[in-house]
Amino acid sequence: MDQYCVFGNPIEQSRSPFIHQEFAKQTQQAIIYHKQYVELDSFPQAVKHFMSIGGKGANVTVPFKEQALQLCDQLSVAAKQASAVNTLTFIDGKILGDNTDGLGLVQDLFRNELTLRGRCILLLGAGGAAKGVLLPLLNESPTAIVIANRTVSKAEQLCHQFNDERLYACGFNEIPQQSYDLIINATSASLSGKYPVISPQLIQTNTVCYDMVYSKQLTPFLQWAKANGSVTVIDGLGMLVAQAAASFNIWRQCLPQTTTVIDKLKKSLVEEN
Ligand code: ATR
Repeated sequence: MDQYCVFGNPIEQSRSPFIHQEFAKQTQQAIIYHKQYVELDSFPQAVKHFMSIGGKGANVTVPFKEQALQLCDQLSVAAKQASAVNTLTFIDGKILGDNTDGLGLVQDLFRNELTLRGRCILLLGAGGAAKGVLLPLLNESPTAIVIANRTVSKAEQLCHQFNDERLYACGFNEIPQQSYDLIINATSASLSGKYPVISPQLIQTNTVCYDMVYSKQLTPFLQWAKANGSVTVIDGLGMLVAQAAASFNIWRQCLPQTTTVIDKLKKSLVEEN
């Protein structure tokens, strides 16, 4: 049976084995997928070892996505633009690197019936997560993407790197007061129970608020967004499943359906604890 895994540290919380086993069942493919804890200084060795025992591919999660980039013999455009790799494919002893995070976000926005063409987007954060989604978002032809970050210079750096006239960088307290169709939280603030502090006036009833992370309850950012009038709030569970589906497609040339898997994951989150 073809073997896959996800490398990370920590890794205990990873839902990827469940998601990929669900995809395998759905598409009637026989694969093994496990999660693998990797010591912080052992990522290259872990990958080489997995290749040597016949692994076909792997997902990469925090904190190894940038290291994974260095290991690859060949990179997709998405991986190059994101400067990070979340999907490794092993072919004839070579490592191919891709990044499906951005595609996962866009697919999940589509699943939620959001179109991005002609829309105005506010992207909060300018770290790895924000960088990884910029190109796929730009490819959907929004009118503008305002990148706001606590450290303004990082947002400016992103604008400079992507060099697209639809991008604008600013700090949280200088966000242009205009009508945003979509606000995406790509900061890691939720992980410490916080949310980026922006003016509540940036939210209108038709402003969709999206958090790239998920949790059992609404994330702090989505709680804040809802309390300030956003009718549609969406967390990152769908993005997680969609990026996994895109990885599965790279490995197996077969794109699984995500909705039933998202529903199962939601149910299991509620049942936990
Ligand atoms: P990731 O790969 O998750 O994006 P990262 O590259 O370390 O992680 O980036 C974290 C992002 O979350 C940054 O944009 C960071 O802002 P700074 O660049 O100013 O550090 C943002 N962030 C983290 N905690 C935050 C908080 N409490 N409020 C606002 N932004 C926060």
